[in-house]
Amino acid sequence: MEIETLKQQAGEKAVMLAVKPGMIIGLGTGSTAVHATRKIGQLWQAGALPDIVGIPTSEATSVEAARFGIPLGTLDTYPMIDVVIDGADEIDPEFNLIKGLGGALLREKIVATASRRMVIVADERKQVALLGTRAPVPVEVVRFAVRPCYDYLVYLGAWVEQRLLPDGQPYLTDENNYILDCHFDGIPNPVALAQAIRQQPGVVEHGLFLGLATDVVLAATNGINILCRTNIMKPV
Ligand code: 5RP
Repeated sequence: MEIETLKQQAGEKAVMLAVKPGMIIGLGTGSTAVHATRKIGQLWQAGALPDIVGIPTSEATSVEAARFGIPLGTLDTYPMIDVVIDGADEIDPEFNLIKGLGGALLREKIVATASRRMVIVADERKQVALLGTRAPVPVEVVRFAVRPCYDYLVYLGAWVEQRLLPDGQPYLTDENNYILDCHFDGIPNPVALAQAIRQQPGVVEHGLFLGLATDVVLAATNGINILCRTNIMKPV
């Protein structure tokens, strides 16, 4: 089955399982989460999800949600979110994640932390036995501090590359920061690494999402697996 079909299945299934009328809903970012946003938009337009409010995790998601007329809010007005549906770059057996290859890790983590429930939508390629084996850890840094942050992340054992646009210019996040993509050959202790990254002034956020995801909707060629914390997946 096409990967795009799997992504769509995961995104739509998560909406059917986790979204109800009247909810405050975090709208994730990326090519899988967009299918959840579109499904919410279609249900909203059909009158099946009255009184919802969406909290987008990026400017791109905000534009997508607005296309469907989904009512949007901010954390100023809605500091408690019922559920966020978002993608991931890696998912380990304890539901720890790497996120941020789409560049939205900062707002995504803020929204996830404000949410009662975080449903991850992904295709089976994102499942890993150990974080850091498939994807780099994106680290968002203020522009003024890019060099000391780079050096510090190398000191922590990463092979670091600054994220660039196709034209070679630095990639800028929605908050106008840079991203340093940090490649590790596996991360045996993600909690310790997350704490260490935080020590460096100039680091705004990192893409290790530890203990935040509550559910995973994983689309595989043999069907959709719905996993929650009490039913954690086996290592690949
Ligand atoms: C954006 C993210 C995305 O959710 C993550 O990169 C997965 O994206 P995709 O579904 O396109 O593979 O964290 O910052």
